[in-house]
Amino acid sequence: MIGKFIVFEGIDGSGKTTQINQLSKWLISTDLIPENNQLVITREPGGTELGKSIRSLLLDASRESSPDSITELLLYAADRAQHVNEIIRPSLNKGDWVISDRFCGSTLAYQGYGRKLDLKLIKDLETIATQGISPDITFLLDIPIKESIKRRINRKDDRIEKEGTEFLSNVSLGFKALSEENEWKRISAMSSRESIISEIQSEIKKLSESK
Ligand code: TYD
Repeated sequence: MIGKFIVFEGIDGSGKTTQINQLSKWLISTDLIPENNQLVITREPGGTELGKSIRSLLLDASRESSPDSITELLLYAADRAQHVNEIIRPSLNKGDWVISDRFCGSTLAYQGYGRKLDLKLIKDLETIATQGISPDITFLLDIPIKESIKRRINRKDDRIEKEGTEFLSNVSLGFKALSEENEWKRISAMSSRESIISEIQSEIKKLSESK
C-alpha cells in the first residue's frame, strides 16, 4: 500500500464531518499528497453504490422491520467488504490518500460495546471484510454524551441514534477503551476549533514523514 489511510471515529455529533472537511481543504493546499495522486473522501456505511442501499437498510428508522443485532453486524461487515474492495484498496494501491468517516472501530464500539456482541466474533469478521487493510492513523473525536445529545437536538435521529443514552454511553466507553488499546489519536472535540485543527494537522505531518 503506497497511499495513506486516515480514519475518523467518534459518537454521533462529535464533529467528524466538519473535521474531515477542514482536513481535506488543508491537505489539498499542501504538497503532502504526491502530485499525481488524489484525496479520496469516503464513509461507512454507504461509501459505495451498493453500500448506499445497505446504509438505508441499516439506518432508515421508518422501516417496519429492523435488523436484529447479528443481521446488523453482518450488514456493516458487508458494507465494509465492498468499500475496501471497490474504493479503499484500489485507491491506496495507486498512492492516493483516503479519509474515511468511520471504519472497523465503529463496529467494535457500536455492535461490540453498544449491542454487547462478542468482540472476538467482530474481530474475526473484520479480518474477512478488510482483508488486511488497516488505517495508518485513526482520530477519535471525543465529546461528552450530553454534548452529543445537545448537538443533535434539531436533527432527525436515525435508527442507531434512537437507541438512547445508555447505549450511547456504552459506545462512548467502548471508543475510549479502543483508543487506548490501539493508540488512536484522541482529540477533545470540546477544544477550540483552531486547536483541534492544529492537532490533526500536526499528526498528519508526522504521518507523511513516516514511510
Ligand atoms: P454516520 O454516517 O456517522 O451518521 P451521520 O450520518 O448521522 O453522521 O453513522 C451512521 C450510524 O451507523 C452511526 O449511528 C454509527 C453507526 N455505525 C455502527 O453502528 N456500526 C458501524 O460499523 C458503523 C460504520 C456505523
